[in-house]
Amino acid sequence: MKHTILVTGGAGFIGSHLVEALGNKKTNTIIVFDNLSTGSLANIPNQENVVFVEGNVHSEEDIAHLFSNFQFDYIYHLAAIASVAESVNHPLATHQVNMDATIYLLEATRAQEKTVLKFVFASSAAVYGAEPTLPKTELSVIDPITPYGIDKYASEKYVTSYGRLYGLNVAVARFFNVYGPRQNPSSPYSGVLSILTEVAKQVKQGQEASFHVFGDGEQVRDFVFVNDIVQGLMLLGTKSGSQAEAFNIGSGEKHTLRDIITVYETLLETKIPLTYCEARTGDIKYSYASIEKIIQLGYKPTFTIHQGLEKYMADALVPMH
Ligand code: NAD
Ligand code: UD1
Repeated sequence: MKHTILVTGGAGFIGSHLVEALGNKKTNTIIVFDNLSTGSLANIPNQENVVFVEGNVHSEEDIAHLFSNFQFDYIYHLAAIASVAESVNHPLATHQVNMDATIYLLEATRAQEKTVLKFVFASSAAVYGAEPTLPKTELSVIDPITPYGIDKYASEKYVTSYGRLYGLNVAVARFFNVYGPRQNPSSPYSGVLSILTEVAKQVKQGQEASFHVFGDGEQVRDFVFVNDIVQGLMLLGTKSGSQAEAFNIGSGEKHTLRDIITVYETLLETKIPLTYCEARTGDIKYSYASIEKIIQLGYKPTFTIHQGLEKYMADALVPMH
């Protein structure tokens, strides 16, 4: 079966891994739609069946142009401003990308002649907010505390409503903290493990560097390796049991930031200098997932934190040898 698949944000960290996996099936044509704001062309796999289209998900004109050129069988909507802290600093600008754009895409999907087989939306654990009951199941209280979390939840509701109101085939993925190769460490708002990896690399190279811990380092996260996120996304794309439902995707493990720093130190056989700073505004202290619901669809995490970090560090340190 030939399929045309749209991946918005496909030049980014998670999107590029998804594109690579989808592109391994040669009968698939993957359209990467991205404005390269945090993503990059270098992330996009150099495969014949992968086509890059530069554009802005928050431009109705760019979306209309995209859908006038292609009809999609599957859509994975990952383009977003992924930084929670950035949304606290710029709520309006992030809202336009993280929420309004979702409606533009849903409208274009509803209007296309071909019936989409699945529209999968990349949401976040941030929708659960700081309500203390753990682990987070899909039935947990929803109480987002940042513009990022609010926009993700509003987008989710639009996506599932389009499933119910217009019969669109849709599913929602709530990612916990994703890490792995190609996560961009260049902004202070980048994912914590990309920053920690960069610092670890500098330390290992004998440079002076220090990792800034926001708060006491006792915050808990479910860090999930990017390959497992891709596995989960592909299940949500293909399984009928995911229709108009939200699913957590995590590792099922929980760790404090300090534990993770210790794993780095063990892997590197060196100490990482730490600077403790004030906790970030809007930061959630404890977040980890129950992944029982997606396990019922056939999901099985394949990387423990130790295995994932080992692979990530090995990739990151390659240029040193
Ligand atoms: P990323 O920044 O690497 O990827 C986002 C991609 O979207 C980038 O390539 C960027 O250039 C693109 N993009 C941003 N604004 C755009 C716009 N207006 N038009 C077109 N493209 C645009 O981040 P990521 O970590 O790969 O995140 C992917 C998705 O997963 C996001 O929706 C994010 O909110 C969600 N998510 C990520 C995590 C995580 O831990 N990384 C956790 C939960 C949810
Ligand atoms: C991350 C994702 C967000 C996702 C959410 C789901 C990124 C940039 N953010 O948010 O898209 O929706 O998980 O759970 O990928 N920290 C430090 N030092 C640093 C950087 C961060 O101590 O240099 C701390 C933060 O204060 C936080 C923790 O590490 O307590 C994780 O931070 P971060 O990687 O930004 O992730 P989240 O805010 O959890």
